[in-house]
Amino acid sequence: MAEKKTTRKKARVNLDFYHSPTQLRFDTWNRLEEYTSRLAEKHMRKADVAAIKRKTREALTLLETFESYSAFPSDDDFRFLWYLFEEQDFGELARIVARIVRALTGGTYRSRHINLRLVEDGEEDHDDEYYSPDEQHLQRPYFEVLFVDESGNDEIRRLRDNLHRLRRPEDQFVYDIVVVPSFEDALIAILFNFNIQAAVIRYGFPLHSVNHLEILKRYLSKIDETAYEDALDIERGPQLGNLMAELRPELDLYLVTDTAVEDIAGNVTQKFNRIFYQQEDYLDLHLNILRGIQARFDTPFFNALRHYSRQPTGVFHAMPISRGKSVTRSHWIREMGLFYGMNIFLAETSATSGGLDSLLQPHGPIKKAQELAARAFGAKRTYWVTNGTSTANKIVVQALVKPGDIILIDRDCHKSHHYGMVLAGAQVCYLDSYPLNDYSMYGAVPLKEIKQQLLLYKKAGLLGRVKMLLLTNCTFDGVVYNVERVMEECLAIKPDLIFLWDEAWFAFAGFTPTYRRRTAMATARRLQARYRSAEYAAEYEAYRQRIAGRKDAELLDERLYPDPSRVRIRVYATQSTHKSLTSLRQGSMIHVHDQDFSHKVQEPFDEAFMTHTSTSPNYQILASLDMGRRQVELEGFEMVQKQIELAMTIRERVASHPLLSKYFSFLRPRDMIPVEFRRSGIGSYFDPKAGWDAGAMEEAWTNDEFVVDLTRLTLYVGLTGIDGDTFKNEYLMDKYGIQINKTSRNTVLFMTNIGTSRSSVAFLIEVLVKIATELEQEREDANRVERRILEKRVHSLSKDLPPLPDFSHFHAAFAQGAKRRVKTPDGDIRRAFFYAYDDENCEYLTIDEATIGAAMKGRRELVSASFVTPYPPGFPILVPGQVVSEEILSFMRALDVKEIHGYDPEIGLQLFTDEALKKLLD
Ligand SMILES: Cc1ncc(COP(=O)(O)O)c(C=O)c1O
Repeated sequence: MAEKKTTRKKARVNLDFYHSPTQLRFDTWNRLEEYTSRLAEKHMRKADVAAIKRKTREALTLLETFESYSAFPSDDDFRFLWYLFEEQDFGELARIVARIVRALTGGTYRSRHINLRLVEDGEEDHDDEYYSPDEQHLQRPYFEVLFVDESGNDEIRRLRDNLHRLRRPEDQFVYDIVVVPSFEDALIAILFNFNIQAAVIRYGFPLHSVNHLEILKRYLSKIDETAYEDALDIERGPQLGNLMAELRPELDLYLVTDTAVEDIAGNVTQKFNRIFYQQEDYLDLHLNILRGIQARFDTPFFNALRHYSRQPTGVFHAMPISRGKSVTRSHWIREMGLFYGMNIFLAETSATSGGLDSLLQPHGPIKKAQELAARAFGAKRTYWVTNGTSTANKIVVQALVKPGDIILIDRDCHKSHHYGMVLAGAQVCYLDSYPLNDYSMYGAVPLKEIKQQLLLYKKAGLLGRVKMLLLTNCTFDGVVYNVERVMEECLAIKPDLIFLWDEAWFAFAGFTPTYRRRTAMATARRLQARYRSAEYAAEYEAYRQRIAGRKDAELLDERLYPDPSRVRIRVYATQSTHKSLTSLRQGSMIHVHDQDFSHKVQEPFDEAFMTHTSTSPNYQILASLDMGRRQVELEGFEMVQKQIELAMTIRERVASHPLLSKYFSFLRPRDMIPVEFRRSGIGSYFDPKAGWDAGAMEEAWTNDEFVVDLTRLTLYVGLTGIDGDTFKNEYLMDKYGIQINKTSRNTVLFMTNIGTSRSSVAFLIEVLVKIATELEQEREDANRVERRILEKRVHSLSKDLPPLPDFSHFHAAFAQGAKRRVKTPDGDIRRAFFYAYDDENCEYLTIDEATIGAAMKGRRELVSASFVTPYPPGFPILVPGQVVSEEILSFMRALDVKEIHGYDPEIGLQLFTDEALKKLLD
């Protein structure tokens, strides 16, 4: 078959950004329902009938394309709709469209075959097409299997009938099939249809789709077409499998081939659960499909706990709450039982046997469940943590860092890392993030700054002691690193550098292709594979010759590549599963991709795990982590995709609403990322006139040094004259019950999550409109004096912002680096931390000019003896051993926040006395 070659060669594999085809699909069905019910009305003007018929035809045409990627309504159902339309049987058409809409919104098509032709005229419609929550719970989970096959209608019908016939009442799941005729349609299908959980790729199908619907084609424009456009017939199946695995790695893939299985390249076949040779045995396929889903559905620890809770046991052990005994026998705390229900008490136990397991030394269901989590999150190993990422971070640091090791770490990281450094006794080299003074927040650490420090340690002959780079990805405010680039260039300088990526906010990122590329685990896997390849060896050789003889200083602006013969991929990620996925509070995970783990890290890791983990870890948290993992493997793609779409909707609504945009704006890439880090040139994701710039977004996510996570929305409120904190508490919370987390002086941060719904988005917009209307009225009613006060407030919030201070430096008493020939900035934070335990080493000075100002003038250096952490920005502006700078003092004086940990304005800053410092220097 002659196939058109396109000239587009741009390499991309990013698919998330589109303006929601799923929302368009549902909205179109709703519109169609409205049109058809109007057509069914008896008395309508002729002109109106013609117009509505045209709209109906358009809606049917659009939906026909959408529905060719879904099992319900089927092709046959659609032919029936067209038939009714052409026959002008509008009453019947309206009734059937209404049934389809009910079945789609109520989800009943998932559990029973809906035969649209069976209901006779005049008969009651099936109003049971909605399920109550209890009924939904009893339904067998439903999914769809994609067949890539060019067969005709009859053959497809035969395939569907054959597979339907194999259904058994005892099957745990039920599925239907979707058949698409080409390579491109298959890619569209898996991205558009969230119900697809498995794909059977047959042979002899063409490359290109004949579907020209722009919104769906947009999916394809985001795939690197060079990856497949030259595919020959024989390679097409494996190629498709490869791409599918990259886009949705959770899918079960089956290949049916008519070439000898041995002829298919070995590395490609790994992507398939099973390869069939000219397979016609439907039962075998059917059982494989069910088994594939079962493998993801399985929740070993949740099952074990549920099973345990049903067993009759006598408790002669700790925990009177176990089995609810201390609650049900109580006269005074009975409502605890009523509130929680009995199951939680039945599942509370301190047993580690009887089918349960020990988190500290897992060998049963916890071990199995952690292995499944590793698979789901793309790690080599995964460890569950029940005290949040605060603890996960300390475990990883203790496992890898010994006293004296040098650690490069972003200064605005979470406080658990600073404490981790104290505990480990690391020599800490703080890295400054670029500041966003206009919003009182920090961005992230530029790669150049990291390279500069690494090259400095190289010059000082200390690279061997630099153990780890620790960065936060994404940051609280949603700045996302180019993880691949950071790791590649750092490994070029130090080939065995360990990376700890704090992904506390980024657990969801692994379940959508564009975000996944910027996660630690996916990048580690990709890099390890790349460095093994012959292509990379050749590329590296050419690069080595090109940069031979260059001085280190010249390498700063050069793109660096690691030596494949020396590089080791050693990557850790800590994730607060509970922050972005389903898990009870404190449920976190440590993901590991470390080539040296088993021989270098396993033992210290076990010790670190023991150090920080309770001997009574909470089973409910563990069970919820197991369930959260099942969920992401089966519906993570759908949920994250919808989350991104909803976040885009919020941005769009605010930017295009005349009143909202007068007072509010969401910070754009150009506001949060300096231009030198945006190679793509993207300034804004959305423009009210031009719409969404999907192309630029993809380019940015592929290449830019930093991008902004769309799901985190920083609303600038400076123009309202209300500061972030007041806006959060008095407006959003007290008046409208909207909870948010973080504020800065002139911003508030809204986070979407996988539970965000279209109605919660509508509510938020409604509330913002109400607030804006109120502000508008206040302004209209204000007299001259009031107006001037308001202007001053706006000015103060938008212009009078104190510059954020950089990390100053460690005092020589705590900085070994200061004594070296080549001076390095690291300091011994642990020494300073514990030195302050001795009261006589410390004094307190208030930060007013007369006290601290005078002391600064007369003395050498003032040195902090404690952490000082204002909220916001929420990270220490002073750490033990750090010299107090003028910039830090000015910042503190200008701060109007109420909460500063480690500092009492009446007592002042805790500082080391001159004598105490002198003692250390002597
Ligand atoms: C970047 C970062 N890391 C770690 C943590 C701690 O996570 P957890 O609350 O799970 O202990 C947080 C909490 O906000 C955080 O923002």
